[in-house]
Amino acid sequence: MSDQILWFAARGAGIVSLLMLTASASFGLVTVTRFQSAGWPRLFNYEMHRRISLLSVLFLTTHVLAAILDPYLKLGLAAALVPFASSWKPVPVALGVISLYLVVALIASSLLRRRLSQRVWRLVHWSSYLMWPLAFAHTVTSGTDALAPWMLVVEAVCLAIVSGAATWRWVDRGATMVLGPRALAR
Ligand code: HEM
Repeated sequence: MSDQILWFAARGAGIVSLLMLTASASFGLVTVTRFQSAGWPRLFNYEMHRRISLLSVLFLTTHVLAAILDPYLKLGLAAALVPFASSWKPVPVALGVISLYLVVALIASSLLRRRLSQRVWRLVHWSSYLMWPLAFAHTVTSGTDALAPWMLVVEAVCLAIVSGAATWRWVDRGATMVLGPRALAR
């Protein structure tokens, strides 16, 4: 019974994590465009980006802990910390581990933003262009449900949303990486 709960927790929290990282990355990309309207201020994009990123930590932690404790997978702590150390699907799990390290770096650098130079913070934030594709590749290659029809729909929708937001960001040539609510108010 508890084995089943861990398995469902790993899968469920993994899928919610993908949805949250998709939303967080997309709101981040839209924040740097100059888009705003009366009903959709730039500050809304920024706040959504920040809050969803912070909330995703909860689901990522649940996902990784459940995967480590799942007696069927026998993943172990080392597999979750060291890329390619997993004996179960080493490359797919490594993609998840590396993307998780990038999530931690992104969130930590944003929490410590006042203590970092703008250049360092910006450099770390550029790694989000690697973080999301790695998390996506991890999902597609390691999940029990990855190739189930309903999961293919979820994956296609996530890919479409992030690709759309990324295209929007690159088409808007005036886009700049903003540093916070004060920069947005200007
Ligand atoms: C230390 C980092 C990570 C480890 C060790 C890990 C481990 C695993 C394992 C073992 C599975 C297969 C579970 C199963 O199907 O039974 C899995 C699937 C999955 N992981 Fe991760 N993961 C990590 C990071 C991430 C990250 C950062 C995301 C963010 C999107 C993520 C999202 C998913 C998703 C969506 C699935 C598919 C669930 C399913 O289809 O059943 N994982 N992960």
